[in-house]
Amino acid sequence: MRAFVSASFLCAITGLAALGMTGCSTEAVTPIPSIVDDADPLAPPRQAPPRGADERLAGGATTVFLTDETAFGQAAPNLAGASLTKHDVGDDAFAAEFAAVASAGHPAGLGPIFHHTACEGCHVGDGRGTPTPAAGEMNSLLLRLSTMGTDEHGVGNPVAGFGGQLQDQAVAGVKPEGKFTIAYTETAGSFTDGTAYSLRTPRYNIQNTYLPFPGGVQVSPRIASPVFGLGLLEALDEQTILANADPSDRNNDGISGKANYVWDVKSQKVVIGRFGWKANQPSLLQQNAAAFNGDMGVTTSLFPTESSAGQLQAIPAHAPEVNDVTLAAVVHYTRTLGVPARRNVNDPTVQRGKVVFDAAKCNACHTPSMRTGTLDGVPEVSNQLIFPYTDMLVHDMGEGLADNRPDFLANGREWRTTPLWGLGLTATVNKHTFLLHDGRARNAMEAILWHGGESQQSRDYVRRLPKADRDALLAFLGSL
Ligand code: HEC
Ligand code: HEC
Repeated sequence: MRAFVSASFLCAITGLAALGMTGCSTEAVTPIPSIVDDADPLAPPRQAPPRGADERLAGGATTVFLTDETAFGQAAPNLAGASLTKHDVGDDAFAAEFAAVASAGHPAGLGPIFHHTACEGCHVGDGRGTPTPAAGEMNSLLLRLSTMGTDEHGVGNPVAGFGGQLQDQAVAGVKPEGKFTIAYTETAGSFTDGTAYSLRTPRYNIQNTYLPFPGGVQVSPRIASPVFGLGLLEALDEQTILANADPSDRNNDGISGKANYVWDVKSQKVVIGRFGWKANQPSLLQQNAAAFNGDMGVTTSLFPTESSAGQLQAIPAHAPEVNDVTLAAVVHYTRTLGVPARRNVNDPTVQRGKVVFDAAKCNACHTPSMRTGTLDGVPEVSNQLIFPYTDMLVHDMGEGLADNRPDFLANGREWRTTPLWGLGLTATVNKHTFLLHDGRARNAMEAILWHGGESQQSRDYVRRLPKADRDALLAFLGSL
């Protein structure tokens, strides 16, 4: 990472202490009563780490031992020579603020319509965005759009005049496609012990569109997600991912994750999906080139056509604005950012929380460990034992989280299990703890309370837990 905002540490914000951040004092939780015992004790944790594995090494040899606001933005320590140089070139492009016309430090190619001027503008500190940007700041949450039906590859049909995203910024002389605001409604709930909580449901209001906005559009809000550790996830063998899939729930545990299969533009084939909130992108190459194109209006050889093509404000065809060398460097950068080490692994409350995590069957989707295969040309992420806490599969998360917009094989209720590594450093790096695909959860407990569908049983289990066990679970999540 290059640029980061240095702000003071924010332990005071509600929920941050609950995430068990480094530097925040956590009250001792004593004594720990026995956990609710209605979980199936026979359900084996899927892919439990080998006995004796060092769980601090979340990213294997790519693990970084920093706990400050730069923790997500470090080159993996096992990079050297040309690989490290390429990472640094990618870092510069990831941090660069693009502009319509080149000037010192600002590469050309932005727009005509876009969301943000820099990758890092949304992936702040190589971490996540916020649904509530400060006044005058650009959004790091975007709205994906489609109409009913798909093209021959399963891509949702674009909305006439608007394409597949609502670009809410534009260069001088061009109109943004539209703007949107988010309003939240609070719904009260309580744990079985009577402790109250409140969950906020977002509503999106699209306005000021440059053309009348058509009816019947499917809208999927998505916030920028952390970008470290992704090369390790790209290096997972397809078989390793499929080993956890159970699409027809043959083991009858109520959890039926499936792999998404998506269109790979480069190979012109259907392949397993890995990236994006619905595992809707097959590779970091395609994810990053799509981000340049859709999020910044910057063309590459993979996506040479401007996102405004076919619209009233289109500009004539032209050569790719980012060349293949820079694109490859950005891909290498997102493949080789190190993963922060776990902290407080031997803390008794954290260990208690880990038992709760398994008992609540969180591990049935948030797979603790996996071994990577080989990623061509990137030995640094190949053959590593990692602790990503994701199975890379999509799951039905219930009506509450549904966007009702299919993305290849992922239906409107399905989302990819979010990796939980680095979760406890979110507040340090990003100065907030807004979680889930649209940032609606204000902290980890709210994220858990939103779990429905296949994960309803885990949510209900947590609702019944005594406070000490809930706190232990949060301490465990904070140690990731
Ligand atoms: C407007 C904010 C925004 C900008 C600018 C942006 N991204 Fe993203 N990024 C997102 C969102 C939102 C997602 C999730 C997309 C989805 O689910 O389809 C994402 C996902 C990703 C992912 C996949 C993360 C994962 O865990 O699967 C990568 C890698 C990524 N972006 C790289 C980039 C790069 C490289 C750039 C600059 C060329 C960039 N992004 C610019 C918002 C942004
Ligand atoms: C059926 C699979 C499944 C189970 C079981 C499950 N999760 Fe999740 N989890 C997901 C998916 C999918 C998401 C992404 C949902 C979204 O963003 O809308 C998620 C998101 C999260 C997030 C937010 C992460 C982020 O970065 O935004 C946290 C925290 C979390 N889960 C913790 C837990 C805990 C703790 C448990 C057990 C009590 C649990 N999960 C059980 C699938 C599951």
